[in-house]
Amino acid sequence: MLQEAAAVLKSGGLVAFPTETVYGLGADAFNEDAVLKIFAAKKRPPDNPVIVHISSMGMLDEVSTSVPQKAEKLVRELWPGPLTIVVPRSRKVPPAVSAGLETVAVRMPAHNVALGLINRLGSPIAAPSANLSGRPSPTNAMEVYEDLNGSIDVIIDAGETFIGVESTVIQVSENKSVILRPGPIPLEILRKHLGEVEVHPSILSGGFEGVPASPGMKYRHYAPRADMIVVEGDDYERKTTRIVETVEEYLKSGLRVGCLVSEETARRLPKRVMLEVLAPRARLNLVARRLYSALRRLDRMNPDIIVAEGFPEQGIGMAIQNRLRKAAGYRVLKA
Ligand code: TXA
Ligand code: MG
Repeated sequence: MLQEAAAVLKSGGLVAFPTETVYGLGADAFNEDAVLKIFAAKKRPPDNPVIVHISSMGMLDEVSTSVPQKAEKLVRELWPGPLTIVVPRSRKVPPAVSAGLETVAVRMPAHNVALGLINRLGSPIAAPSANLSGRPSPTNAMEVYEDLNGSIDVIIDAGETFIGVESTVIQVSENKSVILRPGPIPLEILRKHLGEVEVHPSILSGGFEGVPASPGMKYRHYAPRADMIVVEGDDYERKTTRIVETVEEYLKSGLRVGCLVSEETARRLPKRVMLEVLAPRARLNLVARRLYSALRRLDRMNPDIIVAEGFPEQGIGMAIQNRLRKAAGYRVLKA
């Protein structure tokens, strides 16, 4: 199976494959024509670069001209795993991979199918998430099929992914490092390894108007078709009360309301909503794992508005909040 998929990649085709985070849509990273097919299949804007997936430290030296010592130390601790570093791009990597940038984003995924596929190809695999641009990332093969059937060659089905949200993206330099996309490797852990780490200002506010450090920042990703609003607040009681009130108001005005909430909050909602229950509210890893599938299912029920519960920003919670806010186009209600 992996052998055949690797042969498809070798001949310039596209293969969707699982990683520990979400499914990726892969092409031979050294084949520019193949990489361009990824952009066409996903309808991805050409200025949004993709991640290069490697299976050995030797491949890191192939795709980058120089890796800061601090970055190398970091990935020796955390790879294979859901962490992507942005480093200077070598000539071997065609410009299309990086959308013309002088840097390239690299990661070693912690999934045997992904690693096996890269090994059999014998070169790095360029891969963004395997969704249509603007849709939630796929966490199983059916969701890849739903978005990309007809425009890709192979889908490798290895069940549900383990983590459910995309890797942390970080730019590491000797004096300070910047998180460009929050993910499963949280700020707290990165600070332990690196000392000073900043979170890029665009990430949580969304109102940021500067030049995007990571092109992906400026796109409204993960978006359902319905309007969406996130209700946030440090006090759980006040937050749930606000969610219930908001839902009741929408129902009263005749809207079809979808809800994306924790188990605890679900119990307090009126019966007439379209409900997706994520997990007990303290189990952030489970919330992350179920988030995108739940969004897709809610979207299929076709509500007019989705009311989502915000989660605490610790650990993987920062990634959850970032995806929820993006999905809502930054419509946030503070309780
Ligand atoms: O977990 C993941 O990272 C998944 C799996 C498949 O590995 N991949 C993924 O890829 O989420 P994608 O293309 O959906 O997201 C890549 C992100 C985008 O936000 C992009 O802007 C950023 O990485 N990126 C890629 N190359 C970059 C670069 N050279 N400089 C800054 N940001 C970059
Ligand atoms: Mg993506």
